[in-house]
Amino acid sequence: MRTNWWKEAVVYQIYPRSFNDSNGDGIGDLLGIIAKLDYIQSLGVDIIWLSPIYASPNDDNGYDISDYYSIMEEFGTMSDFNRLLQEIHNRGMKLIMDLVVNHTSDEHSWFVESKSSPTSPYRDYYIWRDGKNGREPNNWKSMFSFSAWEKDPASDQYYLHLFSKKQPDLNWENEQVRHEIYKMMRWWLDKGVDGFRMDVINLIAKADGLPDAVPEDTDESDQYYVFGGELYADQPGMHEYLQEMNQEVLSRYDIATVGECAFVNSKKAHQFTHPERSELDMVFALEFLWDCPALPDMKKRLQGWIDLTQQGGWFALPFGAHDYPRLVSYFGNDAEFREESSKLFATLLLSLPGTPFLYQGDEIGMTNVAFDSIEEYRDIQSLNEYKERLEQGESGEEVLKSIQKSSRDNSRTPIQWDASTNAGFTSGTPWIGTNPNFQSINIAESEKNPDSILNYYRALIRFRKEHPIFVYGTYEDLCPDDQNLFAIKRTWEQQTCVVLLNFSSVSISVPDSILPTQPASVLSQTNYPEASEDASTMRPWETRIYSDFTSS
Ligand code: GLC
Ligand code: CA
Repeated sequence: MRTNWWKEAVVYQIYPRSFNDSNGDGIGDLLGIIAKLDYIQSLGVDIIWLSPIYASPNDDNGYDISDYYSIMEEFGTMSDFNRLLQEIHNRGMKLIMDLVVNHTSDEHSWFVESKSSPTSPYRDYYIWRDGKNGREPNNWKSMFSFSAWEKDPASDQYYLHLFSKKQPDLNWENEQVRHEIYKMMRWWLDKGVDGFRMDVINLIAKADGLPDAVPEDTDESDQYYVFGGELYADQPGMHEYLQEMNQEVLSRYDIATVGECAFVNSKKAHQFTHPERSELDMVFALEFLWDCPALPDMKKRLQGWIDLTQQGGWFALPFGAHDYPRLVSYFGNDAEFREESSKLFATLLLSLPGTPFLYQGDEIGMTNVAFDSIEEYRDIQSLNEYKERLEQGESGEEVLKSIQKSSRDNSRTPIQWDASTNAGFTSGTPWIGTNPNFQSINIAESEKNPDSILNYYRALIRFRKEHPIFVYGTYEDLCPDDQNLFAIKRTWEQQTCVVLLNFSSVSISVPDSILPTQPASVLSQTNYPEASEDASTMRPWETRIYSDFTSS
């Protein structure tokens, strides 16, 4: 029987490589996670999502899987995994796994077989084509720069890889491929895992005939093109595959599923999450992370996702993840108002409908890092981008500057546990540099301070869990066009609350029509230690929740 526990849950994402290293090799691992489960439980979260922990040569940090049935050596063993799952369950939490099935590693035995000969029974597991006029089969560009095709000199054919050349795309048209994947999913579910976060799941079907992309407004100097995925996102067949997966696997377990759907907005998300379509439970609302929208635009996009919930669908809300810069550096003010703006996003995240996803380190307001040289970066996306832009004539200095802002490594630096060497992450040399601000920004310090971002998250998570209004209540945006003020009214049964958020680094005034009248509403949460002298003025990044109920 399928239930809706995942609607009321709060999720914590772990990027295992950077979480906690138990054996001093500089790489986070499963025993390291086990050692910190009490900490995770203390946040009040219900579900842990683990980025991939399967065997992998780590071209893309585990998103290139060479064996779905075993654990990456650096992370530990299957018995460590079994223990981790048990310990999570013992604490009343659940575990969802990353499911990466748009592609495998080129070191997966299927691909090794596939590449061995055009007549191999595995050839058709991947997407092989002849070249055209001495070039690639089409002009698609990989998400990690350069052509999306790699030539195999032995057979003179090319294989498709939307990501790195060590991540060949699986051919979902092949029924055997699909059934191998369903079998693998059942194997993990039978072990007791509680669901899947599905990596770029809407890319599994490609446009018929793999036509060239038409270069519209792309830079002419670029010979390969990516266009918002028109030719490989949401293509015919994709929804049928998900429905088949639902029937063969998902519907048989009481689990949670969330799709990472590239280029998908709230309108399209309906087709993935409407219960009658029997596909997925939730889709990530990634729209906020594509570009950093101005406030009125952010509200508009959010309204779209709220509408989705009213039509029966559901979404997952991540303001941070391993693929984006740090939340507070991206949306907030990571210098003067790091605390206030971090708490403001905590408030927004935890007072909206949708299932909140909290990314490791955001609970203490970790910030972007700016490494001084390209050699310190590890992310394949950043490294390839650097190479490509240099080839196109940009200067190293210029490209480094842009990578410092956008790199996925910003959110992949080691978790800052305390002020000791390497932030307490490892006793060895960390695989990626630690953010130098760890001496002041770390978990041990945050534990000591009752007003820390960390303790604010805890209080807000508890508040959300006590009051279904935050999950199921109605939603009203009280000033959709305001550039700085976000004011949200929620109601549920007899309860009402108003959430006010100042999205700016200056003081603003709140119109009388919006300010809740006392004493009907009490101020139940705020991110400033002292109440404002004048209730109609909100200080920089100030946030308040007024409600006619309080936290126990
Ligand atoms: C997803 C993952 C990202 C990975 C890519 C290819 O977007 O979140 O980290 O690089 O898919 O698997
Ligand atoms: Ca380790």
